[in-house]
Amino acid sequence: MTENPALYNQLDPATEARVASLLAQMTLTEKIGQLVQNNPYGQFDFADYLAKKQQAEEAGLPFVYPPNLREDLADILRTGRIGSFLNVMDPAVINHCQRLAVEESRLHIPLLFGGDVIHGFRTVFPIPLAESCTWNPTLLEKASRVAAEEASASGIDWIFAPMVDVARDPRWGRIAEGAGEDPFVGMAMARARVRGFQATNLTSGRRIAACPKHYVGYGAAEAGRDYNTTDFSERSLRDIYLPPFKAAFDAGAGTVMSAFNEISGLPATANPLILRTILRDEWDWPGIVLSDYDAVRELIPHGLATDMKDAARQSILAGLDMEMVSEGYTKYLEELISAGEVPQSVVDDAVRRVLRLKIRLGLFENPYLDESLPERIHLQEDFRALALEVAQESMVLLKNENNALSPTTLPLSLQTRIAVIGPLAVNRADLLGCWALVNHPEDVETVLEGLGHYLKADAMTYTRGCPISADDTSGIPAAVAAAQEADVVVLVLGESADMSGEGHSRVQLGLPGRQQDLVDAVAATGKPLVCVLMSGRPLVIPRLAGQVNALLAAWHGGIRAGRAIADILFGAVNPSGKLTASWPRAEGQIPVYYAHKSTGRPSAEAGTKQFAEAFKSVFLDAPNSPLFPFGFGLSYTTFRYAGLQIENPTLGLDDTLIVSARVTNNGDRAGAEVVQLYVRDLVGSVTRPVKELKGFQKISLQPGEAQVVRFEVPVRELGFTGRNMGYTVEPGAFKVWVGTDATGGLEGEFVIG
Ligand code: BGC
Repeated sequence: MTENPALYNQLDPATEARVASLLAQMTLTEKIGQLVQNNPYGQFDFADYLAKKQQAEEAGLPFVYPPNLREDLADILRTGRIGSFLNVMDPAVINHCQRLAVEESRLHIPLLFGGDVIHGFRTVFPIPLAESCTWNPTLLEKASRVAAEEASASGIDWIFAPMVDVARDPRWGRIAEGAGEDPFVGMAMARARVRGFQATNLTSGRRIAACPKHYVGYGAAEAGRDYNTTDFSERSLRDIYLPPFKAAFDAGAGTVMSAFNEISGLPATANPLILRTILRDEWDWPGIVLSDYDAVRELIPHGLATDMKDAARQSILAGLDMEMVSEGYTKYLEELISAGEVPQSVVDDAVRRVLRLKIRLGLFENPYLDESLPERIHLQEDFRALALEVAQESMVLLKNENNALSPTTLPLSLQTRIAVIGPLAVNRADLLGCWALVNHPEDVETVLEGLGHYLKADAMTYTRGCPISADDTSGIPAAVAAAQEADVVVLVLGESADMSGEGHSRVQLGLPGRQQDLVDAVAATGKPLVCVLMSGRPLVIPRLAGQVNALLAAWHGGIRAGRAIADILFGAVNPSGKLTASWPRAEGQIPVYYAHKSTGRPSAEAGTKQFAEAFKSVFLDAPNSPLFPFGFGLSYTTFRYAGLQIENPTLGLDDTLIVSARVTNNGDRAGAEVVQLYVRDLVGSVTRPVKELKGFQKISLQPGEAQVVRFEVPVRELGFTGRNMGYTVEPGAFKVWVGTDATGGLEGEFVIG
């Protein structure tokens, strides 16, 4: 665990005194400069970027973009008109800019360098959705610390993560970046990541501030289409979308990025309820609110602002401190203040927050970067080892049935002759997943290389079968021939990295391209089939799941994914990942999530075949339940749950619910199990979800070993936003379950009196 992570959510008198003295010396132009974040390369031309990227890829050259600094850079920095840059990954450029700001500006205020460090930096870890499937916050804290080590070595002071948006729609490409569908898991992962990022004893000697995002409700985009409208109740805002942000702040986060979306009619960028009432009045949080990319300007197409001046006015008044990329503050704040439309005090408050962070990060004392740091710090052997561990724990075994040769398909025997088939088995770049800005595919171990650690080359063949998404079936006959020669087929299928992430939503979540045709043809051989499925989201794969004997959700698993997959397939590692987002049976079920409401016409329990019950809340053509539920994941051993005990079944508001159960490993392999505790508040003054996760513990058990797992849940954490919109814990009867996923478990009852 991180020792004493920095707490940027707190004020200290010495810093406040320095802030006050600096502020007193600043001109209005200099103040506004501190509220501006931009890049040193001038206007970003996305089409040009893509064209050059493709050229570099085709030529097999490393991709560097863009090459030139903006012409007015020196002038802007000398006059203090920009306070922060984003996504500069070149230490020499960072030092150059910093020197202009620190040595050549009047007040010597250093720049703040922000960057998207979403799942590692040079050492790329699995995508965050995968990381959350470890259910191991301690591990994620370590991974975040490694990201901070590497990013700080490259000069990043401010990490635009964790992404803590609760996401219940797998069509949304950005589900890849977060911790899935559940606020409780989201809170645990948010805390862990903030602590790891804000570690104070980094090798570089520098410090990093976390920036949870996107505040708030971005994951609720209608139809999962990115940037789309969101419209949810204030109760959902408070009970579902806000808690991971609050957890991140309580763990010490002192900045937040506002979201692109509107919330019930008011875009987050200019939304006083979320930016002022909740952050400042209710939570008394002193941190910086940064807009998302160009989001102040986007108030115009949203239809909220008439022009840039109006957009700037509405944003600053709502509580947005720093503007990313668009230039409303730069161009219009001075005028707005002179006209009395924006009080000077609002700008001063925002500037104080920025100066406070720069002081607390130590940038005034230590503005420059040792340019040899990246080479010394990046991609160390222990970082690579941690990336392997996270990849191993993140993968979720969804199916492992018998086949003609053995009672369980996995783990594979070393004597097996394997046909590896599929477009992702030799791929490096896609295993990095979305948002790997420091992109070195050569760091990645492929699946085929991973399998090569276990099998001699002559025990394994490789055939691509088909591309990831292009309409080409010409390779399928060769794949079928290879399958016929083998004992077992390992299909390595799924999505490319650019099918998820920002601006990459999809409506059809089955296997892309002609991959399902490939599976159909190979399945016809009757050979045992193992599928390693890579994706940035839950996929909709009922047909595939029915065809294969074993199915491993491997996500986009980072630089060590290939090895981790091989370790699991051959049983050197027993899988222990569990889903943090439900996998639907059909796109038409979406959103499908475990913590839904009961409705007035609930159907029989999910999972039954009675999905056509008359006039119940059901579909005619599919059950309500997902294909694979939240919390689900198999192991090579089995765990037995028994002996549920509720120590105190009648509780007062200040008590702590104590529940325990005995979990036994009754298989013949050591394994880890995520033991989950859910509750249901049976009757409330407003309706409550049918289940809510309130605790989890990941335990490791040797064969035959048993452990009594004890949960302590403060009754104060069993509340919700009541009728008067305040947080309330209501007396009444509750159910509690302790089990292996969201669908069942040992059941008990307790009462809050
Ligand atoms: C994304 C943010 C990201 C920012 C800066 C935006 O498009 O929504 O998540 O931090 O760009 O790169």
